[in-house]
This record gives sequence, C-alpha cells and structure tokens, in this order.
Amino acid sequence: MKPVKIGLLGLGTVGGGTVNVLRRNGGEIARRAGRAIEIARVFTRNPDKPRICDLDGIEVVTDPWQVVNDPDIAIVAELIGGTDIARELVLGAIDRGKHVVTANKALIALHGNEIFARASEKGVMVAFEAAVAGGIPIIKVLREGLAGNRIEWLAGIINGTGNFILTAMRDQGRDFADVLAEAQRLGYAEADPTFDVEGVDAAHKLTILAAIAFGIPLRFDQVYTEGITRVTQEDVRYAEELGYRIKHLGIARRRADGIELRVHPCLVPARRLLANVDGVMNAVVVKGDAVGPTLYYGPGAGAEPTASAVVADLVDVVRTLTADPENRVPHLAFQPDALADLPILPMAAVETAYYLRLRVADRPGVLADVARILADEAISIEAVIQKEPRPGQTDVPLIFLTHRVQERALDAALARIEALEAVKAAPYRIRLETLE
Ligand code: HSE
Repeated sequence: MKPVKIGLLGLGTVGGGTVNVLRRNGGEIARRAGRAIEIARVFTRNPDKPRICDLDGIEVVTDPWQVVNDPDIAIVAELIGGTDIARELVLGAIDRGKHVVTANKALIALHGNEIFARASEKGVMVAFEAAVAGGIPIIKVLREGLAGNRIEWLAGIINGTGNFILTAMRDQGRDFADVLAEAQRLGYAEADPTFDVEGVDAAHKLTILAAIAFGIPLRFDQVYTEGITRVTQEDVRYAEELGYRIKHLGIARRRADGIELRVHPCLVPARRLLANVDGVMNAVVVKGDAVGPTLYYGPGAGAEPTASAVVADLVDVVRTLTADPENRVPHLAFQPDALADLPILPMAAVETAYYLRLRVADRPGVLADVARILADEAISIEAVIQKEPRPGQTDVPLIFLTHRVQERALDAALARIEALEAVKAAPYRIRLETLE
C-alpha cells in the first residue's frame, strides 16, 4: 500500500520530537499501521531556527495553509498550540476532509465540542492522546480499556511543571522561581508558564478526562482552578511531618447530585503511590466500579514522550482510515447523542478534608478560640501543630488537619477565624484527599 502522507503544523518541542520518532521507528510504525507514514510537509514560522530534528527530504513551508490545503495530505498533526490560529487550521483541515491529530489541550478543552461536531459531520477523526499527560496513553485507557466500567472518580498529577516544582521544593528546599526557570529550559513549561503554576493547563486536561470518563460535554469554564503559587516551604514541611505530601491534583468525581471538577494543591498520604510520583512525571488514578482503582504513570511532558502519543494517534488514524465513521471509537468515548448533561457541583458543595495554616498571636486562648469556631461549624479536628515562635517574633504558625466536611462549612469557619484579632494573616487552606 502507498504511504499515508501527513503534514505537521509546528516544529517546536513536540513537532521536533514527532519527526524524530517517525524517522527512527518508521519500520516498526509501518508494521503496526499497515502502511508507511510519510511526513510530506511541515509548517514552521522560523525555518532557520536550529532544530532537534533532521528535516532532510521534508518540505518546510512558512504558511500553515500550504499544509492544510495540500490535497495529498490525509492527516494534519496540529502541534503549534494556542487556540486562535490552531482552531482555524483544525477546522480548516476538517472542512477539507482531513483527519487531525493534536497535542493541543487548550484547543480541545475550549473548542472540542465544536471541533468534534464538525468532524462528525465530515466523517473525519480528531485524535488527542498527546493533549493529556504526555506519553501516558490515558485517553486510550478511558475510552477503550475501561469501557466496561462506570467510572466513579479519577485523580491525577497532570502538570509536569507543577510536579517538578513541588518535588524540588520538598527534596532540595529550592525556591519556586528558580525551579520554574529550570522547567522552562527543559521544555516542560507552557509558553505562558502561569498556565502551569496557576492550574490552567491541568484544568484543560481535567476537562478532557472528565468528559471521556463520564460521557459529559467539555466544560472547561466550570472547573475550579487553583495553582501552587501560595504553597510555601513551611507547608511542604508540615505536610511531611503529618505524614502527607503536597501534590497538585486534578480531581473529577461522580456523585449522586452531579460531578466534582477541581484542580488544586492537595495533601495526599505519603504512602500512596500518587504521593511518590516525582519530578516531571505524571500519574492518573482511575477508579472504575468493575476494575477498582487503577494507576497510570509516565512522563507528562517533553519532546519524545509527547511525540510517542502523537505517533500512536497517527497509527490509530491510519488503521481506521477506511472504516465507516460510525464504526470508529467516538471522540468523547460515548456516542455523541448519548452525552449526559450532568451538573458540575460548586466548590461549596464539595466534601473533603483540609490542612489549615494560620498565623496567630502566641498567647493563651487563641487555639481555644479557633477550635471553638471549628466546633460551631461541626468541623472535627484531626491534628494540630503549633511551634515555638521564631527568635524575635511574637506570632506563631498554627496548623490544623480537619476531618471531611462540606466546603461551605469551612468557608464560614475561615471567615470567622480571619476576623479574630489574634489572627495575623489570611488563613491558607489546602484540601486533603486520602484517595481510598
Ligand atoms: N506544560 C505541560 C506540563 C506540558 O508541564 O505538564 C505538557 O502538557
């Protein structure tokens, strides 16, 4: 059979890695796909920039539409990122009857509903394994491997940069900005690293995971999103002392009254596998009713790990090029007319345990006042730590762990605690999940 011609949009970290993997493993890939996959054209804005890949024999163009409009190209791999031009190019490729492979989580999370509807109309595939958790085939797992299950919840470390930072803060006592700069140098961080540290990147990925886990539309605007910028060395140390690690998690949980969809720092018992996922590695725990808890672990970013997912999608698309569209795996795992419009629950309705860090005046009765407010709101305390004041200081940190409670009760308690004269700074909360 003739090779399938593909076009690449973008030659950055992921694009360069994809060229390398396709070239190095071309023989194995053809044996799997049943045909060779040939890169016909690549688009890059800067053709003269030094590359991590060899472009010998590949036509390089500086107008992306020369890829999208090329009638010989059957599959377009969108690896430029962003949501404006990428959306136009992806819709343009679909309109021209081309299949699309993308690593673009923001594009899928924000515009996936529109893109999949258009792709279904045109009978083409849009594959996005590389959009979530880099090289871990978590989309395939949820869409196919666990298709017999009712998914109850999933929780994942789905931003490598954030995990790299939290790990270095714990293991090396390094400060935040220094580790972030290293993650950027290594090509893990987003073009705008606030997407990593403020949780937006993880929220894009969680949106996609929740849609294919529960058969709901993509609802990025309803994900509660909190980053790691307020986590201090002090928090990392207290968590350790209490037997926990701080991880930045994306959590999606099915409840009788709706879906919890949240990204935030989280204390996890130190003995859990998820608590021991370090550096740029990602991991996702999925709890299905039949299979029980399952864990998927691997590199969540970087050139070749992400290319591994892009190329797997290319192979999948090539294998089903001639299949009738209705016999392909649905984009969002469930048939489009069977998606359920389940409500996303507000954070006030979420139930979890908490780590609280207060800074209080060191004098008799303060601990009792705080404990009284927690008791008034029916919040049960699991542990308390209070240290000696540092030399020359009169304020002390006061750390609480609570049992599980609805977030609205904790909000009410914290408002009252903050108003106490002895409380010297806004209390900081980190949610705590045992993931049992
Ligand atoms: N910036 C992302 C991360 C890259 O750190 O996980 C992969 O999506």
